Amino acid sequence: MRSWDDLYADREFHWEGAESAVIEIAAEWRERGITLIHDLGCGAGRNMGFLQGEGFTVIGSDVSPRGLAACAVQLGRASLPRTLVQADMTSLPFRDAAFDATISINVLNHGSRALLQAAADEIHRTLRPGGEVLLTVLNTWDWRFGSGEEPEPNSWMLADGPEAGILHHFFDEPDLREWLGAFEIVRLERERGLQKRSTAPGNRPVHRDQWQVLARK
Ligand SMILES: C[S@@+](CC[C@H](N)C(=O)[O-])C[C@H]1O[C@@H](n2cnc3c(N)ncnc32)[C@H](O)[C@@H]1O
Repeated sequence: MRSWDDLYADREFHWEGAESAVIEIAAEWRERGITLIHDLGCGAGRNMGFLQGEGFTVIGSDVSPRGLAACAVQLGRASLPRTLVQADMTSLPFRDAAFDATISINVLNHGSRALLQAAADEIHRTLRPGGEVLLTVLNTWDWRFGSGEEPEPNSWMLADGPEAGILHHFFDEPDLREWLGAFEIVRLERERGLQKRSTAPGNRPVHRDQWQVLARK
């Protein structure tokens, strides 16, 4: 099975420019006194770098050594702290209630539904009471839904695009609400946009479709 560690061998996947949802939440979280944030699946660090620049203390974790190496380079270039931990999202090496907030952008699609449940449980465990998580996950309207093989309901081993060979789970709304059942869902928005960073075969135009969720412990 392919992984994101393979993709990070290509600099095209060292994404830059923070996610708009992260930019938008920063002011809200600052006003609410949030200081310590976990960036779960930080990848090359575009969101972590932005939040540090905004004055937050951010710990980044990712399962990919190459992703973390790319992150260290990008943060180093901006003279920002590099507090990075290699960890799988299903078993986080942080104490209970360690963080005021967690972000996880374009991460919690990667794996089976059971694995993603374990990751959501870990996010819940490591947030303080009242802490919030901002996350994006793919939904069943995304262009890649139905690509490749479906080893379990709504989980597809993709056949197309750069993430071919990587298992992705796509959430419909009831599934999403069940998945985050331990949290209070503060905001749930559907976002649809032209795919910017990957292309389908033949470069046909495709639409990325995802849920953006703000949830509270
Ligand atoms: C699409 S990239 C997003 C990176 C970053 N969040 C961003 O928005 O730029 C997905 C990231 O999830 C990480 N990832 C995938 N499976 C993971 C796991 N089981 N535990 C931790 N991180 C994982 C990958 O290594 C990769 O860095």
